[in-house]
Amino acid sequence: MNETKLKDLLEQMTFDEKIAQLMQLATPFFEGAESEGQITGPLAGLGLNEEEISNSGSVLGASGAKEVINIQKAYLKKNRLGIPLLFMADVVHGYKTIFPVPLAIGCSWDLELAEKSAEIAAKEASVSGVHVTFAPMVDLVRDPRWGRVMESTGEDSYLNSLFAKAFVRGFQGSSLENEAYRVAACVKHFAAYGAPEGGRDYNTVNMSERELRQSHLPAYKAALDEGCEMVMTAFNTVDGIPATGNKQLMRDLLRDEWKFDGVLISDWGAVKEMIPHGVAADESEAALKAIEAGVDIEMSTSCYVKNLKMLVDNGSVSEEIINESVLRILKLKDKLGLFENPYRDANEELEQKLVMSEEHRQSAYELATKSCVLLKNEQVLPLNTEQKIALIGPFAVNGDILGPWSWLGSKEDAVTLVDGFKTKLDQANLFTAKGADIDTITEEQWQEAIQVAEQADIIVLALGEHSDMSGEAGSRADIRLPEAQLTLISKLKDLRKPIVTVLFNGRPLDLHGVIEHSNAILEAWFPGTEGGAAIADLLYGDVNPSGKLTMSFPHSVGQVPVYYNHFNTGRPKDASDAQVRYVSQYLDIPNEPLFPFGFGLSYTSFSYRELSLSSEVVTPTEPITVSVQVENTGNVAGEEVVQLYVRDVAAEVVRPLKELKGYEKIWLEPGEAKTVSITITEESLRYHHANLEYKSDRGEFFVYVGSNSQQVQAASFVLEK
Ligand code: BGC
Repeated sequence: MNETKLKDLLEQMTFDEKIAQLMQLATPFFEGAESEGQITGPLAGLGLNEEEISNSGSVLGASGAKEVINIQKAYLKKNRLGIPLLFMADVVHGYKTIFPVPLAIGCSWDLELAEKSAEIAAKEASVSGVHVTFAPMVDLVRDPRWGRVMESTGEDSYLNSLFAKAFVRGFQGSSLENEAYRVAACVKHFAAYGAPEGGRDYNTVNMSERELRQSHLPAYKAALDEGCEMVMTAFNTVDGIPATGNKQLMRDLLRDEWKFDGVLISDWGAVKEMIPHGVAADESEAALKAIEAGVDIEMSTSCYVKNLKMLVDNGSVSEEIINESVLRILKLKDKLGLFENPYRDANEELEQKLVMSEEHRQSAYELATKSCVLLKNEQVLPLNTEQKIALIGPFAVNGDILGPWSWLGSKEDAVTLVDGFKTKLDQANLFTAKGADIDTITEEQWQEAIQVAEQADIIVLALGEHSDMSGEAGSRADIRLPEAQLTLISKLKDLRKPIVTVLFNGRPLDLHGVIEHSNAILEAWFPGTEGGAAIADLLYGDVNPSGKLTMSFPHSVGQVPVYYNHFNTGRPKDASDAQVRYVSQYLDIPNEPLFPFGFGLSYTSFSYRELSLSSEVVTPTEPITVSVQVENTGNVAGEEVVQLYVRDVAAEVVRPLKELKGYEKIWLEPGEAKTVSITITEESLRYHHANLEYKSDRGEFFVYVGSNSQQVQAASFVLEK
């Protein structure tokens, strides 16, 4: 349909039909849903009548071609103008074939595979009837107490922006109109949801506009530059005003400054939450604030549908603003081709064939191998197939490795760690015991673990957090492993056998109690459906680990937030002088995180030499290239992520000690060397000044190249303008 036709359609709609388009309801409200009528909890209190439901514009969480087709059919029978429903769902890191959690995907530094994971998720979701996914989540994260850090790719806005674009490309392809098996993406949670005070979910976010623009906004903007169709509001306040009713953020910045003309949806219940936030006295005021801010769709509450008529009648809201929102929704439906084919790609036969296909699982496996990060290795890894292995721990035989957002992923389909080990060694050499539950341990359990461990050469301990310990509403103040698992490891260490710890978790942990007793640690995050297979291949050296952290591991929780791109302070700590008191430091722990951004080991070693600059002067028209020779100095082939950081030495506003400006992932055979060249442009040196102007300053810059954010070689150049 062209815009004129859509406008004609809009003209034919009654006011009630219009505002119903702005309401999104969960699946059980709809005839044809498998969970039809099971409306409980807060949903039951919405007080919706049949007509409101039968006109609502979109559905949250329906899945499966059969269910979606049934709902759409039943709906269209009743909908006077034949406007189809939009089906939206959280397809975050896979539909049924589950990829590693996004934080793990970040650690792969592999944009191609990230894009591929989103493309596969889109394929599985689209044949199962989904039109829109609530992804990518691109919130910048610096506080591992926050349970949702696993949904983000990490603490660096440049890297997050690259991933944001890759995910959007993967979900949407080059065109939703012309390409089948793609879904519209919805970037979230706008804005700065990743910075709640104290790491407590939904909590206040407080920062300057400059910091917001400098660090937090780039990834959302990157997603939109890639054509992301939708934006979701955040639950939190931004400068004292809940994002969902924040006109400066939504109208002035998102719509007017960034020219975003797609659909803006609230997060679940976030419109009504303006009441407890304390900026709306009742649901009508909440509706007024959200619509004025430019929120098109209200997710899961009924403030709009119950109040917008009254607000228009009494002149508080213009009908024009409502027409604009409805038109944006109709346009999206049109772009997805729903007026011609309301079922789009939903197809039971294809669903059978494509969902969890071998090919999809293979991609999930590949990404899992790239996402795990080897944190420590005292020459115990790789294992060899002759060794007797005691595989112990709550994650030894546990399918809970998909992560908290793997909504449709099934634990039964997951390759567990023991499944992976079984493919590697003679069963007679593999001994398993649970040793402990995630939160509890009994004497019987650890005694059994000791007996099992006594028979083996090496103990592989599979520890971690169950999936409910991270994710939404999964904040933790103590980010060590639960005491039960620390007890288990301390009992086993007395056997004086090598311990290889594999961690399954949704956040950087405080590893005290684990690190000192482990001879090797592999951070596996929630690795997804093929997790066990990928980990076994990594542990046995069939695949060489190449993941690098994209979020710092704190030394202990007292350091949090600790991130690599921080300021220097006026009294920086000088490591060479430990005696000085009046410097910025902790008296009891180091300033540095336990493992910094960019860190990850390999079974080989890489040497960096001959750092050189094509020129010592950058100008707006003449970028420079920074080159370094990287050699694989070990005995096995491996991949290295060569990272380039920059520091603006004296700027108008303090700039971070290091900022990632480029990287390259290279494969090197043993003894092979490659020269890596990364370009620095004037544009990449810009930042937000005191007056928020985005520009660069003349002067000196340091440039660092290395294998993580701490281990680097340095040079310098000047920017001339
Ligand atoms: C989450 C969103 C999610 C939405 C819909 C909310 O609780 O914050 O990330 O997309 O639910 O499921």
